[in-house]
Amino acid sequence: MAKSDQPYTQQTIFETERPATRDSGPVTCLGMTFPNDEERRKHFLGLLRAGLQELREKLAVPFVSFDDTYTRLKSLQHWPLGTEDQIRDLAKRITHAASATRDPRLGTRDILGLYKDEVGFPIGSDEYILALSDPPYYTACPNPFIADFIKHYGKPYDPSKPYSREPFAADVSEGKNDPIYNAHSYHTKVPHKAIMRYILHYTEPGDVVFDGFCGTGMTGVAAQLCGDKAAVESLGYKVDKDGIIYQQETDGNGKTVWKPFSKLGARRAVLNDLSPAATFIAYNYNTPVDVQAFEREAKRILKEVEDECGWMYRTLHAASSRTEQRGLSDEWAEKLKACKTVEEIRALLSPQSSKRSTTPSGPMSLSALTAPRKWSFGRPRWTRKPARCMTSFPARTAEPCLLNAAWTGPG
Ligand SMILES: C[S@@+](CC[C@H](N)C(=O)[O-])C[C@H]1O[C@@H](n2cnc3c(N)ncnc32)[C@H](O)[C@@H]1O
Repeated sequence: MAKSDQPYTQQTIFETERPATRDSGPVTCLGMTFPNDEERRKHFLGLLRAGLQELREKLAVPFVSFDDTYTRLKSLQHWPLGTEDQIRDLAKRITHAASATRDPRLGTRDILGLYKDEVGFPIGSDEYILALSDPPYYTACPNPFIADFIKHYGKPYDPSKPYSREPFAADVSEGKNDPIYNAHSYHTKVPHKAIMRYILHYTEPGDVVFDGFCGTGMTGVAAQLCGDKAAVESLGYKVDKDGIIYQQETDGNGKTVWKPFSKLGARRAVLNDLSPAATFIAYNYNTPVDVQAFEREAKRILKEVEDECGWMYRTLHAASSRTEQRGLSDEWAEKLKACKTVEEIRALLSPQSSKRSTTPSGPMSLSALTAPRKWSFGRPRWTRKPARCMTSFPARTAEPCLLNAAWTGPG
C-alpha cells in the first residue's frame, strides 16, 4: 500500500512520468478512438469494474442445480463465455464438479470462492485488481476483453482460402544470453528468438497467436519482433525492401538458395497464464515503457535497498584494519579454507545441524569464497545440487554470507 492507503498503481509507481504512448494525442483501441491513452484506460477500467461487480452479484452465491448454473452463466454480460452450447457444456461441468467433489467447503462456499482459494489466484480486492490493470491489454484477473480482441483482429476461417504449411522441422538452438531474455528470469523460460522462427513459419503479419501458458510472455515479445527487420535478420534470414523474408535452403541440385517463406510484420499475441505474477511480468515485457522514468525509479529503489540492507554485505576484512569492505572476513575465510570435509564446516557453523539427514557428507573442496550474494538467518541451510552445496552463516555466528563449496563426494 502507498502511504495514502491507496493501492499502488502503474502511475504511482512511476509518479508523474508516463510511458511515451500515454498523453501523446488520440489513440485507437479495438476500433474506438480516444482523445489520449489515459481516456482509453479510463473507459476500459469502467467496463472492468462493472464486470467484477457482475461476477460478485451473479456468481458469489453457491449454484444449486444445473439450471441455476446455466441461467446465471448465460446472464453474464461482461464475461463472454462463448456460444449457447459452450455455456451449456460449462454449466454441466461445473455442476458435475460440484457433485463429484468431497470438499466439505462446497456446502458453504461458492465455486468462485473455491477457485479463489487456490494457490496463485489473485487475492487482492477489486480495487487492487483495477489499480494494477491496464485494460483491455492487461487485467490482473481473467481478461473479459479477449473476445473483443479476437473479433477485432482475428480472421474468420475461410475454407476457400488455401492455408498450407509443412511442419516446422529444423533444429532450433538459441542462447540464453540475450538482454531481453535476461531482463527477467523464469523457470523453463524460452528464448524469444526460438519462438520467432515458429511464428514466422506458420503465420502472416497481423495473425493472432495464442500462448495459454505464457510465463514471462516471450511469445508476445517474439510476435512483436516479427515486425522488426533487424531482429528477423539476426536469425540468419534475409528481408527484402517489400518485407519478404527469405531463408537458405538446398535445391534439388544440392545448391544453396534463398527462398521466400514469410513476411515482415508484427503478429498479435494473446497471453494467458495461471500465475498472476507471470501475467504481470508478461504485461511489462510487452508494453511500452518510459525508459528514463524506469531508470530513475530503478536507481531510487536500489539506493533504498542499499541504505536498508547494505550493512549485511559489509565486513571488516582484516581484524587490524577497521575499514569496512564488502565480502567475507579474512578470519572466517581462513577458518573455512581449513575445513576438509562438509562435517567440519557444519561443525564450524552450527553443531546442531549435524542431525539433519539431508546434509551431504564426505570429502569436499572449497571454492569461491567471494562477496556474498545470498543469505539466510537462523540455522544454516543446505541445498544439495549436483557437485555443489551452499550454506550461509547463522546470524548469531557472524555476519551473513554465502559459501559456495564444490562437492567432490559420491552421489
Ligand atoms: C514452462 S512455463 C512457460 C514459460 C514461458 N514459455 C516463458 O518463456 O516464460 C509454463 C507456465 O504454465 C503455467 N501453467 C501451468 N498450468 C497452467 C494452467 N492450467 N493454465 C494456465 N497456465 C498454466 C505456469 O504457471 C507456467 O508459467
